Amino acid sequence: MSKVTVVGAGNVGATVAQYVAEKDVADVVLVDIIDGMPQGKSLDLYEAAPLHGHDRKIFGSNDYKDTKDSDIIVVTAGIARKPGMSRDDLLKTNASIVQAVAKETIKQSPNAIIITVTNPLDVMTYLAWTTTKLPAQKVIGMAGVLDSARFQTFIAMELNVSVEDVRAMVLGGHGDLMVPLPRFSTVNGIPITELLPADRVEALCKRTRDGGAEIVALLKSGSAFYAPGASAAEMVEAVIRDKNRLLPCCVYADGQYGLKDVYVGLPTILGREGVKKIVEIKLTADEHSALKKSADSIRENINVMNQLLVAV
Ligand code: APR
Repeated sequence: MSKVTVVGAGNVGATVAQYVAEKDVADVVLVDIIDGMPQGKSLDLYEAAPLHGHDRKIFGSNDYKDTKDSDIIVVTAGIARKPGMSRDDLLKTNASIVQAVAKETIKQSPNAIIITVTNPLDVMTYLAWTTTKLPAQKVIGMAGVLDSARFQTFIAMELNVSVEDVRAMVLGGHGDLMVPLPRFSTVNGIPITELLPADRVEALCKRTRDGGAEIVALLKSGSAFYAPGASAAEMVEAVIRDKNRLLPCCVYADGQYGLKDVYVGLPTILGREGVKKIVEIKLTADEHSALKKSADSIRENINVMNQLLVAV
């Protein structure tokens, strides 16, 4: 029986728990600092089990002891972005939270794989890796799956085709400098560059880059959670079921794409051991320079975070 711990039982965390249980992937422990809240949400989700026909146990707790021997730890604890707030404004607060969560969870589950969701994503993933000292292939960030799902949705809306036939690839950091790749985004194998004029392709890329902010502006308080929750659950499923999915994930670059010592979104084979491989595809000069720019910005933020943490 697989066990998945989700830390942070807020909007994203509860949605991850819901999808992981509904897909019948694993038992779930939901942890939060707020007394009663993870217990209440877990019981509510458990009470939906008969309606969904799964026997997954969903358990809420404020105590890390209950997370013992988890196969995967999904980190969603933190504060969410508010309107007008950039992802990087979140840096200081969320760094302290993610550091504490990483320390506590890995004590209970030293063999776990960590999937980070807390923003700013790439920097938090790097922090989870340095804090836990796990091998890099076991610490992975969720961003590319979400950004690609958003791109897929916008492509399907634009062309009035089923999302089932749309695949898309978005690399780079989970921020304004993310790198949607239209050449590698297709409707059943046909690149969208063959189906749409260049200005429409660029408009869809821009909407993808601004995808998180668009939701924040509409919600007024809080940020997206259905698609982020579903994206994290998809990664959890790929690991638990050892699916060898090729997904864009935030992973440690050690020379791939000419990038070193940074966590950034790259195409990855994801399975039971975490990152089995980083897939290197040939990029155009423009695509490569956009990826490098995105990685450079993440590296700068990692440096800022390290200074902030020393100052704490
Ligand atoms: N330990 C455990 N839980 C914590 C801690 C902590 N140290 N600090 C905060 N939390 C919990 C909060 O109590 C809250 O329930 O994290 C939860 C966060 O939930 P929400 O505020 O609903 O935020 P959510 O929308 O779920 O986003 C969480 O994911 O997508 C990212 O940008 C988003 O960084 C944010 C994270």
